[in-house]
This record gives sequence, C-alpha cells and structure tokens, in this order.
Amino acid sequence: MRALIAGNWKMNGLTADAKALAAGLKRLSAETELTADLLVCPPFPYLGLVAQELSGSRISLGGQDCHATSSGAHTGDTAAPMLRDVGCSYVIVGHSERRQSHGETDQQVRGKAETALAAGLVPIVCVGETEQERNAGQALGVIARQVKGSVPAGMEADRLVVAYEPVWAIGTGRTATAADVVEVHTEIRRLLVGLVGDRAHNVRILYGGSVKPDNAAELLSQANVDGALVGGASLKVEDFWAIAQSA
Ligand code: PGA
Repeated sequence: MRALIAGNWKMNGLTADAKALAAGLKRLSAETELTADLLVCPPFPYLGLVAQELSGSRISLGGQDCHATSSGAHTGDTAAPMLRDVGCSYVIVGHSERRQSHGETDQQVRGKAETALAAGLVPIVCVGETEQERNAGQALGVIARQVKGSVPAGMEADRLVVAYEPVWAIGTGRTATAADVVEVHTEIRRLLVGLVGDRAHNVRILYGGSVKPDNAAELLSQANVDGALVGGASLKVEDFWAIAQSA
C-alpha cells in the first residue's frame, strides 16, 4: 500500500502563502518521484487557487471539513459536492479541533464521512484520545468508541482513510512513542476488520501529532502506519517534502 502524506494547513496563511506552498511542492514533485501519495488540505477560500497551482501535478487536494448534508440552509458550512466540484478528492472529518471547539459527535462525523463518500470524496476520519483519557488508561476504549461511531458502515476500504491523532500530541511538539502508535494502530486495524472484514487491510491508517522531518522516518516505518497527517510542518515546503521523502 502506498503511504499517504497529508498536509493539514488548518487556518493558516493568506493568498501569497497558499500560492507559494503549492508552487513549491509542485516544483519538487516534478523533480523527484515519490513513493508516497501527497495531499494538501488548504483553508476553504484558497482551494480553487491551490487547485490551479497544482494542476498537472500528482498532488491531491482535500478539504478540512464538510457538512453532513449535501446542500441547504447551513450558513457558513461547506458541502462535500462543493469540495469535489473545486477539485478535491479527500476531506478531513472529525478532526479533534472540530470535535472540541465545534462539539462534533461521532454520529455527526459519521454523517460527514457518508456524505463525503456519496460525493466521490475519500473521507479521512480522525480519532484520538486526550491526555486525561490516556493517563486514565482509557486510550484504547476511546479509540474503539470513536472508530465504531465515526466510520461509515459498508464503506469500501480503498475509499477510506483513518487518522490516529492523540490530542496531546497535536501542535505540542510531543509525539507519541513508536510503541504507543503501533499499539493504537494495531487496535484500529482490528476494529476495522470487525467492521468490514479483510478489506480493512486496505484502509490507510495515518498517524498525526507533531510529525516533523526528524521523527517521520521512525513513525512511518512502524507496522500499520500507512502515512501521516501533518499540521505545523506542512506549512513549510522543505519540511513537508522531507517528511514525504521519509515515507
Ligand atoms: P501538528 O498537527 O502536526 O501541528 O501536530 C497535526 C494535525 O492536527 O493534523
């Protein structure tokens, strides 16, 4: 399975930054063949611009969220078919920042993933425990609840990505140890097998949380780690490229 290295730009940068990042990645990808698939998820206002910049490259485009219904009276929200229409092939759903600051539930995240699939997008379903939950020995229980609650039933394995992002490792510079990552990813694989059978072996499970050029190779070489979801380090062309090259 080819690794997927996904850049989540979050709510960062303006036009010039989005242009420069996309152009830099396109230039590097034209010079060097990667063994990993590359994806960038810019803020909504820049999707069209980044799609234009990336056209002719093999770098994919994704949204950072979508609504659970495909159109209607939802002020400020973005529909999955709109993302598809402007050139996206992926969408992140259930990122912990949305679960926390927008109160998104497993059920809502599953609805978003289902709508994304129906629109022809590959949902990247995010799960991850808080520090408190980990300290209380509840990490695997939380992951099980989130996977069972957020992953759409009857999905096709090659049309789904799951990202394990321990909340305490996001943007903090603290990465989970390789052993912790393997434990959780192995559990996620087992849960997915329970949901969809053997097809679960084709689902890409990404790790996210302070992935940097200097820890990427170790994390990406672990069993059941099929790529990375990169926040901060995806805002620098050289760093994101270095992570992609270590896959
Ligand atoms: P980080 O973010 O790499 O800045 O920790 C990862 C994410 O939230 O997707």
